[in-house]
Amino acid sequence: SQGEVLPQSNEFQELLQSLPIRKSMMNTPIYLYNGIWIDESCLKAMIAFQQNFQAQDTDIILVTTPKSGTTWLKSLVFTITRRFQYTISDENHPLVTTNPHGLVPFFEIVYPHNHVGTPRLFATHLQYTLLPESIKTCKCKIIYLCRNPRDTFVSTWHFVHKMKSKLDPSWQFPSLEESFDQFCEGVSKFGPFWEQILQYWKLSNERPEKVLFLKYEELKDDIIAQCKKMADFMNFSFSSEEENEGVIKDIAEFCSFEHLSNLEVNKQTEQHSVPWVDNGLFFRKGEIGDWKNLITLSMAEKLDQLVEQKLQGSGLKL
Ligand code: A3P
Repeated sequence: SQGEVLPQSNEFQELLQSLPIRKSMMNTPIYLYNGIWIDESCLKAMIAFQQNFQAQDTDIILVTTPKSGTTWLKSLVFTITRRFQYTISDENHPLVTTNPHGLVPFFEIVYPHNHVGTPRLFATHLQYTLLPESIKTCKCKIIYLCRNPRDTFVSTWHFVHKMKSKLDPSWQFPSLEESFDQFCEGVSKFGPFWEQILQYWKLSNERPEKVLFLKYEELKDDIIAQCKKMADFMNFSFSSEEENEGVIKDIAEFCSFEHLSNLEVNKQTEQHSVPWVDNGLFFRKGEIGDWKNLITLSMAEKLDQLVEQKLQGSGLKL
């Protein structure tokens, strides 16, 4: 089966050649493998991860669609679970000196993973069906985060354009319309995005102790309530003393866009916590509704209709 191919082997090249291929929003090749669109380097790391990773009961796994607030979620979960080891007023707090992606590694970007401390925290953009059995069967927890698809598309578009233009200023991109149509077709990295959202949504209903389902907009709307929800879910509940002392509010402010994006480490254009990506690129505006500044209302409505159709009957609204 495809899952048994060794990443370093000739077989891997054969596998690649056998897969349907398209161009990503960045105009680089992506392959359709077991239901997701993925690039060559992530496919290699993903196969190594699927074959070797052993989950532990205490692991916490953060799953997101790309550009839906992964950086924010990583910083919140790291700060909440490490609050007895590192106080946020400490000028050497790991999040002051390291970009959140340097503390909570992605499964499918680099293998083996370089995580920091306990409990082990990992992140992924992979669909649930692609996770190894040990994650599914042990007691580890999954926090899932998605975002309104209009803003997700627009955030992705800005991200890939900034990244690739810096690496190669003469780089040719597909037009905005082409990129948008392809996103609606489901051909985007780790997409179709609705497949991933639906898998974790269903699971969060069937196994609420396993999967906590969050939305970027809800974090924006009431970060204190969402921090409490996350902490309870991870068995890191805040005590009433902590609540009265304002610990949750302090953590929310510490992980806010304003605070994190102004830290020297996150303004860096030469430091890469994820290969090729400047730390600064993970922070753009951090707002709801910025789609208005890039796509037309008719594009937005087309996307809404598609999403409504895909999510029909699930009880989920985005
Ligand atoms: P915008 O491009 O809309 O500004 P990811 O972390 O999954 O790559 O998502 C990146 C998006 O999350 C970007 O959205 C980025 O600005 C936003 N973001 C990053 N850190 C954030 C924070 N602490 N609070 C809110 N949004 C944040």
